[in-house]
Amino acid sequence: MARAALGDDVFGDDPTVNLLQDRAAALLGKDAALLVPSGTMGNQVALRSHTEPGDEIIVESNSHIFLYEGGGFAALSGLSARCVDGTAGVMSPADVRAAVRPPGGLSHYPNSALLCVENTANRAGGTVVPLVRCRELGLLAREEGLAYHLDGARMFNASAAMGIEPAELAAPFDSISFCLSKGLGCPIGSLLVGSHEFIARAHRFRKMFGGGMRQAGVLAAAGLYALDHHIERLVEDHRRARVLGEGLASVPGFYVERERLVTNMVYAGIDEELGSASELVAWLADAGVLTTAVSGSSVRFVTHLDVDDAGVQQTLDACSDFVGRHRASA
Ligand SMILES: Cc1ncc(COP(=O)(O)O)c(C=O)c1O
Repeated sequence: MARAALGDDVFGDDPTVNLLQDRAAALLGKDAALLVPSGTMGNQVALRSHTEPGDEIIVESNSHIFLYEGGGFAALSGLSARCVDGTAGVMSPADVRAAVRPPGGLSHYPNSALLCVENTANRAGGTVVPLVRCRELGLLAREEGLAYHLDGARMFNASAAMGIEPAELAAPFDSISFCLSKGLGCPIGSLLVGSHEFIARAHRFRKMFGGGMRQAGVLAAAGLYALDHHIERLVEDHRRARVLGEGLASVPGFYVERERLVTNMVYAGIDEELGSASELVAWLADAGVLTTAVSGSSVRFVTHLDVDDAGVQQTLDACSDFVGRHRASA
């Protein structure tokens, strides 16, 4: 990062950013890419670029775009969202088809414009949307005249878990956003990837949304390093998450859906009598383990490149101690 060649990326002349964008596009088998500060901005710029105000997007009910982006689809792009319940984050083609508004719509309906898929599906536990389903939904989107976006914040976790090339996973989609932060380990940065025309339009909305950065090559250099060094090792995070999940499943009062242990996340439910999820999170923080409460009784654990085997054991020990504390005070 310190040695990165820099320019002004708002003018498109930062060589390190251009290198990263070209690499990202090539990696996903698309024409072009655009560096943005966050996964949220990647998604929001994609939504705005694919739609016009008054359009409707189709999203999975627990998707990040719907739940966790501050309602940006409505505030920034004037969109409504039609939610489809998935199973472990995976929507069925029949349900998606039923969510598409009738063409013409007697001018009553909003215009269904865009279908979004999240892979891996964060709130479902880091589950994978299988390639065949991504393709089926892509065909459906084409038939229905919808654009097709992948919220691939963790798409490399998905492709690693499926044992396929990232470009294969990206192929059915018109656009993809992926994060350099999270499992790839960068402090900042996401990429939006798609056709030349799409990225040209996205460039305008990135500026409008305040995401045009100047000497951003400092960040792009970290991104290039991450693409070179941190993709192949994601399977280690998956192995550790499985060890952690299996271990937590055997801690009394902890519940884990083992079939959802496919990538780098573990969602564990805890018995009410042990305490609340936020009490567990505070306990773990004291033991040096950072986690997130996702409901009153459920905690999310994520493995990543800073978590080693000893860290997994430390987590399991701290959870066992949490149960022991309860038993001692009961
Ligand atoms: C599926 C998904 N999409 C998008 C994002 C947004 O990324 P960022 O935090 O960089 O805005 C996240 C963040 O957790 C996510 O889980």
